[in-house]
Amino acid sequence: MKHISILALACVIGFFSIEGFAEDSVYDPVPAMQHPSDNAWSKDKEELGKMLYFDPRLSGSNWISCATCHNPGLGWSDGLPRTIGAGQKELGRHSPTIINSGYFENQMWDGRKKSLEDQAKGPIAASVEMNQDYDELIRELKVLPGYVSRFNKVFGKNALNIDNIAKAIATFERSVVSINAPYDKYWAGDRGAMSTSAVNGMNVFFGKAKCGICHNGPVFTDSGFHNIGVKPAGPLKVDLGRYNESKDDFDKGAFKTPGLRDITKSPPYMHNGTEANLKDVIEFYDRGGDAKENLSPFITPLGLTGQEKKDLVEFLKALDGEPILVTLPILP
Ligand code: HEC
Ligand code: HEC
Repeated sequence: MKHISILALACVIGFFSIEGFAEDSVYDPVPAMQHPSDNAWSKDKEELGKMLYFDPRLSGSNWISCATCHNPGLGWSDGLPRTIGAGQKELGRHSPTIINSGYFENQMWDGRKKSLEDQAKGPIAASVEMNQDYDELIRELKVLPGYVSRFNKVFGKNALNIDNIAKAIATFERSVVSINAPYDKYWAGDRGAMSTSAVNGMNVFFGKAKCGICHNGPVFTDSGFHNIGVKPAGPLKVDLGRYNESKDDFDKGAFKTPGLRDITKSPPYMHNGTEANLKDVIEFYDRGGDAKENLSPFITPLGLTGQEKKDLVEFLKALDGEPILVTLPILP
């Protein structure tokens, strides 16, 4: 029974689906961000990481930055169903938001990267994304005194290398967190912070609609992989998702459970952007998904009423945190 949490079992046996379920046992506040011991936080490192994140010179063409595809104005995603990389080619997957990525145990839709440090090096070199040669990048940055002095200050002498570029970017990403949503205020005692519809939606979410089986914990993910029946779209005729990584038949068509905080801000949805908005996402779950092969046993038609569907959307809106404000850096 792998990939099934205690909460999942509790949901399945109907623990939470009874009326007036144990609400208090569901709320999990967002903990303070942890930084890895080999990449401790400092303000200077975070600021340097922000510069690198917004700097298009990290790409081979000098016009694509991390922010091109993870744009703060578009919910730290890019607004496209499937992202467009170097060479103007549509890629197979949707650019996920990086909000709260510092909390995720796995990175990428198939979880093929563990740490943000490891992740950040990937897109820089990937020919279809930023298409940059690491040595070339280091040469380009080394002629900019503003970068050299900052790397020296943060990491010590002769420290301008790809590993430290990734460490600084990861540190910046860990500052991009969604906090203080109406949902948190509600559980902190401000019962007026969520509308009646949103509160009803919360009960449907953890009860009848079984969403909490997979979307649970402080940032609404079980860190697991599930095939929820998303239909193929875009250049990839077949995307086996997690299977590519694990080679476990169980994982065919399974993708990482995304977090749901601030989720209103990064449409369209799913690994290949097939659902345009949250209303469509709820309709998708209500009909029990689209592709039936290797479908998770937790995905079944839900028989939601029109009101319950509206309430679910209101609940998801109540997970929007305070606006994440960033001042664009002046680049060296
Ligand atoms: C061309 C668009 C593009 C660029 C440029 C890009 N990314 Fe991404 N990013 C993506 C896509 C698409 C994925 C998902 C890929 C997959 O799952 O196979 C992704 C995944 C991620 C993830 C994983 C998030 C999660 O929840 O799993 C992080 C973190 C991330 N990118 C950070 C970065 C950083 C840092 C940079 C700059 C060094 C960057 N990206 C550059 C498109 C892009
Ligand atoms: C069996 C586990 C599971 C259940 C149950 C489940 N989800 Fe998901 N959810 C996922 C996975 C996995 C994805 C990504 C799937 C993909 O892209 O192929 C996802 C994607 C989403 C997305 C899109 C997020 C994004 O960044 O694109 C939303 C919104 C969402 N789920 C909300 C819900 C709601 C609301 C419910 C209940 C009606 C629910 N989920 C039930 C696992 C689950």
